[in-house]
Amino acid sequence: MSLDLKALIFDLDGVITDTAEYHYRSWKRLADEEGIPFTREDNEALRGVSRRESLRRMLKGRQIAEATAEAWMTRKNTYYVEMLDLITPADVLEGVTPLLAEARARGLKLGLASASRNAWKVLDRLGMSAAFDVVGDGSSVVNTKPSPDLFIWVAGRLNVSPPQALVFEDAEAGIDAGLTGGFWTVAVGSAPGEKGHVHIATMRDADLTRILAALPR
Ligand code: BG6
Ligand code: MG
Repeated sequence: MSLDLKALIFDLDGVITDTAEYHYRSWKRLADEEGIPFTREDNEALRGVSRRESLRRMLKGRQIAEATAEAWMTRKNTYYVEMLDLITPADVLEGVTPLLAEARARGLKLGLASASRNAWKVLDRLGMSAAFDVVGDGSSVVNTKPSPDLFIWVAGRLNVSPPQALVFEDAEAGIDAGLTGGFWTVAVGSAPGEKGHVHIATMRDADLTRILAALPR
């Protein structure tokens, strides 16, 4: 792929803000109530995947009825949404605002691709409802990450092709989605392991000039 970059597409949870902690606390509360062992380490496997897949991973092979699964997902979401009231614009991760400004200055389009059905609520709490040209959330496509569908949905609405877009992701499922879709990928943090074209420890390290120079051509 040669580089003809036209857009940046961001994951939300763990890239724009650290809601992963709130997801963890909500699943943990549910797990404690139901007597299911669930640790912070277990929670790492839930990064980036849908609510239903998160429940499946939390259950670690335990079988529950569909009605119970629905009720537990609703309860977890109630806990999570309560916690979203704690979010303020100060919770935008360091490095994000200058990166978005730099991208705009270079004429790049900006997209958001989050598996969360609460993405708009989170953006609203962060004061970022107008920060992206296109927002795709957990309701935009049927198959969420690691399927590439959500990134392709967002790229299509941005009117760019996958090789013209650079995806920022903190989850292995998200990097898999980006790679399968033919996007350039930046892996944020340690969860994606070796996967992704460029690796940065935190969004503080998201220097666009350095990232672009590091992309293979
Ligand atoms: C992703 C999170 O962004 O959204 C996952 O990384 C979460 O942890 C998923 O399970 C779905 O979120 P929600 O808000 O629709 O339950
Ligand atoms: Mg994420």
